[in-house]
Amino acid sequence: MAGKSGLLEVWPFRTQQSRIPILVVFTSIAAALLVWASTSTLFSGFLASSAGQGGQNVPIDAQGILARCASLRIVPGPSHNFLSREVSDRYEPGTNATLIKNAVIFTGEQHGNVLIRGNVFLDKGIVKSIGKVPRYLIKNTPNVTVVDANGAWVTPGLVDLHSHLGVMSAPVTAGAFDVDSPRGPILPWLRSIDAFDTHDDSFELAIAGGVTSAQILPGSDNAIGGQAFMVKLRKTAEGSPSSMIIEPPHTLAGGKTRSDGIRWRHLKQACGENLRAYGTRMDSIWSLRSAYNEARKIKVAQDAFCASAEAGLWDSVSGAFPENLKWEALVDVLRGRVKISNHCYETVDLDDMVRLSNEFEFPIASFHHAAEAWLVPDLLKKTWGGIPGIAMFATNHRYKREAFRGSEFAPRVLADAGIPVIMKSDHPVINSRYLIYEAQQAHYFSLSANLSLAAVTSTPAEIAGLSHRIGILREGADADVVLWDSHPLQLGATPVKVWIDGILQIPVPSKTGEPTKIEVGKGKEDEEWREVPDVPSWDKERKDAIKWDGLPPLKGKTKSDKIAFSNVKEVWTKGPSGEVDLTYSSDTAGGMGGVVVENGKISCVGPNCLNYVDAMDAIDLRGGSVSPGFMSFGSPLGLEEMIGEPSTGDGKPYDAFTTNVPSILDDTGAIMRAMDALMFGTRNALIAYRSGVTVATSSLARPYYLDGSAAHVISGLSTTFRTGAAHAMEHGAIVQDIAALHVHIGRAHPLIGSGVSVSTQIAGLRRLLFGWESTEKETGYWFRKAAEGVVPLVVEVENADIMASLLILKAEVEDRIGSSMRMTFHGATEAHLLAKEIGNAGVGVILSPARPFPTTWDQRRILPGPPLSNDTALVTLLKHGVTVGLGVRDAWEARNTRFDIQWAALESNGRISQREMYALAYTNLQKLLGVREIDDESRETGDLVAFIGGGPFDFSSKVAAVISPERQVVDLF
Ligand SMILES: *[C@@H]1O[C@H](CO)[C@@H](O)[C@H](O)[C@H]1NC(C)=O
Ligand SMILES: *[C@@H]1O[C@H](CO)[C@@H](O)[C@H](O)[C@H]1NC(C)=O
Ligand SMILES: *[C@@H]1O[C@H](CO)[C@@H](O)[C@H](O)[C@H]1NC(C)=O
Repeated sequence: MAGKSGLLEVWPFRTQQSRIPILVVFTSIAAALLVWASTSTLFSGFLASSAGQGGQNVPIDAQGILARCASLRIVPGPSHNFLSREVSDRYEPGTNATLIKNAVIFTGEQHGNVLIRGNVFLDKGIVKSIGKVPRYLIKNTPNVTVVDANGAWVTPGLVDLHSHLGVMSAPVTAGAFDVDSPRGPILPWLRSIDAFDTHDDSFELAIAGGVTSAQILPGSDNAIGGQAFMVKLRKTAEGSPSSMIIEPPHTLAGGKTRSDGIRWRHLKQACGENLRAYGTRMDSIWSLRSAYNEARKIKVAQDAFCASAEAGLWDSVSGAFPENLKWEALVDVLRGRVKISNHCYETVDLDDMVRLSNEFEFPIASFHHAAEAWLVPDLLKKTWGGIPGIAMFATNHRYKREAFRGSEFAPRVLADAGIPVIMKSDHPVINSRYLIYEAQQAHYFSLSANLSLAAVTSTPAEIAGLSHRIGILREGADADVVLWDSHPLQLGATPVKVWIDGILQIPVPSKTGEPTKIEVGKGKEDEEWREVPDVPSWDKERKDAIKWDGLPPLKGKTKSDKIAFSNVKEVWTKGPSGEVDLTYSSDTAGGMGGVVVENGKISCVGPNCLNYVDAMDAIDLRGGSVSPGFMSFGSPLGLEEMIGEPSTGDGKPYDAFTTNVPSILDDTGAIMRAMDALMFGTRNALIAYRSGVTVATSSLARPYYLDGSAAHVISGLSTTFRTGAAHAMEHGAIVQDIAALHVHIGRAHPLIGSGVSVSTQIAGLRRLLFGWESTEKETGYWFRKAAEGVVPLVVEVENADIMASLLILKAEVEDRIGSSMRMTFHGATEAHLLAKEIGNAGVGVILSPARPFPTTWDQRRILPGPPLSNDTALVTLLKHGVTVGLGVRDAWEARNTRFDIQWAALESNGRISQREMYALAYTNLQKLLGVREIDDESRETGDLVAFIGGGPFDFSSKVAAVISPERQVVDLF
């Protein structure tokens, strides 16, 4: 409000010219100085007119013009006494007050450094009191609901600075996909709120993850995609999109300035690859420069107009106030009144934008994705108007060229350089429900605990200009609060309760008025869950990453001599039963053990294994463990380097259902082998290897992605390979050349829409399984093998009705052939609806992704798990005796396999044992995909992984070594 100083109070005297000089003289000297300082043109104007120029034709609306000119100088923001308000403008009458007692409160203040032990009192939509709540306050408030936190953590509601919630509605339909306009590249006049669908299935999911507000951004296919809006995610009494906006800017209310100042506006800009439709990077930047040039002309004209008006030179003020509805948002950018969220990845793009900001003198609030920001912190600091925040993913990188140098170490590197760090979802790219997981991973990779939590609360709120009400818990702030079942940076942390504007959202109030009881956080009673998790050190890896400009070498040191490990807490190996079992435990053995490895094989395990020489050179695992390597399945891992850069992958196969297969193949179904497409040494595969995923089974099947990459009905034969191998000819690189036969049965992706019908797909499958295609050719041969149960038929299928059709088809085929098919459903989001029948049919399920999201209509009936449902799909399937594995969709996710498993176990509220956890990404996957040869018992060929600092599922550990009996070596990291 500083910009308003004095000016408005002076204007009313403006037309009574003769009296002004006297007034000025006789006002207090201090006031005169203030006016002088801020309005010297005004003062010289007086002098000029009083010197006899006079006689100006003052227009009737002079006061209106002058008020408008004055308003141009108003800096957005809250009034100075905002936090002393009594009632929130978002308060819904009838909302009861809530007292949260006995909590540990992360307030978000001072970069997340302020913690308070005590109470939080919510009333009238605001935080009325925090810490020691005065007794009289509670006594004088009717209908107070008391919640005892019992020492649990409370944080501000999470703020997701980058979301497409409501403009890319889930499930994706052609009817509600409104994120990118094709009429670019410059579209500052578009507004995301105009497309904001209040029926997106994601609202409830995001709130269940503790996210209470989000910036709804237009897409990034345009250099300026449009205006963005900060919204609260709860359904309002009015139910409209407009009523969800936090501090709607005056431009939404017909341009009327409000009595309490003006509010920040938000704008989406982009650069780089996504703008290809409009030419090259050079074209994009020119389109931005010409747009800002238009806006600047208008701003200059407005300033000249106002300078004359304010000088009283009315005769030279001709015509209307210069403005243009198309460019007004950019003029506001030039006036510093817009928070720009700029999608921008590479150094070249960041440099372009920093230059643009200096050429036209406007600030950029934040760069988003910004895969290379961590490599050029000094460049970022040259942004005009102040250092921008960087909004990032934690580990979602390498999905296209400009994301290739993205790094898990970026948050820490940027924080060290003094640059604000924000973690974001880009919902639905990452389900906003798991925004806190982005912060957890940032912390795992060395960002401090306070900054990690601030990265999803106070920092995004500050960047959006809204920290006076969201992202920070203090008296007068909005009553958006999350009560967690553990420390929020612990893996799998789940909200027990969530309030928005003081209104309870989680647990979801039932429609019948009965309270819904969902069990959350069982098994987290130990005090350790309330503490910041221990994390490993990544100092060396981080320095290397910087030294190698984002592409550090990923291969370890390979040793074939004797290697010893000390301080081993547990050893898990695959026993004769085929299951993974605990074979050494310090608890039962009475102390930490040693493990000796010779020629890649364990030769001794136990407290007495290390002799004097071994002990000297032993690698100290610091209470770590040795256990079997994990397998990854479901993504194109090892088949391509970057999914968005087709030239780095296998290319496009034929879809026999939509195209004629060329005669050179002479095979109806054009069956391809993934083995022929393998690429070794991709960064995703090597990072997976370094994360304990030593083998992968990959197929040429394409899962549906958001933007709808085409899925093929017949997607060929999968292969199993070692993720750390150098090439296919290396010993042990190919574990099994052919694993399973893969098909994809589902409705066409809404954004592609050209697929064949589900019934046609099943008709084709029936024909092939009935054996009506010659077994002389690949297609007939392999479908016969599948019908006979020799190879598993892995069906990528999401929808329960289609699964039922497949179960019926399976029975038909078995009846006809007298066989027992091995069928596996992959994806299988809706499998829980058919758990009993799937169990009875002996069909296995690979849930992928491990945590469900209703991306398409086929996937819409998810079982979300706590805090929305007691059960998860995994638990439901296990209850019905189904063999279940966990998969991933994207190759970058393979590295997180061990955390996916831990999370699945935590969400089961204690219903999954550690033995079963290993099965989920190892033995069960092996069975379901027909992989025989990873650990042939007679040969002992399965890889083992040594973790330092904890077990394989813990945030405290990282991989120290991979022990490979097959290759007779140990890879050290
Ligand atoms: C307290 O709750 C009762 C019952 O719902 C309601 O009638 C009354 O209006 C509430 N009082 C206030 C001040 O909200
Ligand atoms: C508010 O509190 C009153 C008194 O405890 C209770 O009867 C009423 O159901 C509460 N209303 C809501 C909406 O929770
Ligand atoms: C969830 O589980 C708890 C504890 O077993 C039970 O009390 C509650 O009724 C269950 N909720 C639902 C919706 O089934």
